[in-house]
Amino acid sequence: MNQKEAWNRLYKKNQNKWRMETLGLPKIINGKNILEIGVGNGKTLKSIIELKPAKVTAIDLSEEAVKNAKKKFSIENESIKIRVADVTRLPFKKGEFDIVVCYYILNNLIENERKKAVKEMHRVIKPGGKVIFEDFALGDFRQKEELKRVEENTLLKNDGIICHFFSIAELKYIFSDFRNKKFTKKISYPITHKKELERVIISGKMQK
Ligand SMILES: C[S@@+](CC[C@H](N)C(=O)[O-])C[C@H]1O[C@@H](n2cnc3c(N)ncnc32)[C@H](O)[C@@H]1O
Repeated sequence: MNQKEAWNRLYKKNQNKWRMETLGLPKIINGKNILEIGVGNGKTLKSIIELKPAKVTAIDLSEEAVKNAKKKFSIENESIKIRVADVTRLPFKKGEFDIVVCYYILNNLIENERKKAVKEMHRVIKPGGKVIFEDFALGDFRQKEELKRVEENTLLKNDGIICHFFSIAELKYIFSDFRNKKFTKKISYPITHKKELERVIISGKMQK
């Protein structure tokens, strides 16, 4: 299924799919010009705004996500812009942003799109600018064997959405045009009575 359609369908059904707060964004966001990729239901955007960036632009492939996010965040506020765009073809100039926040979006792309997305992020970041990254890692409980395999470590979920699981080696490879790369794998158990449900994520930072 077309991914835009799958996301629009999901947001029409449930606007508040993810409830957990996005914690631990770095304070360097303060006073900077930020691009958030894949705004979704705005939980990471909320945390970005709390850190008082100079300007924030948030994009999403899904018109439904953008419509909902615009309702939640003040669209009259000149310093917050929310618009439909595809990360593989960013409608921005070279070197426009200080920081790109890329949380749980690259996993929704197939391999050639992930590569294009990273190239586009590199293009729109200023020299010395940074990417702040977080996404699913190999071994996360969502990587279920019964789901259809689309590519290596990439599954098609029952809702029609693609989900990829990263290793640190793959991330170092796709972000090879960036320097000062630092990735950390974190394991947690989100449901206390279901210890077999291991949440495995990778956080990272890198610089142009
Ligand atoms: C899991 S949500 C991420 C939510 C948000 N970043 C957060 O941390 O809460 C992934 C979002 O990426 C969007 N997306 C998927 N493919 C995209 C693409 N090619 N370009 C831009 N956004 C995309 C989806 O529509 C969805 O809203």
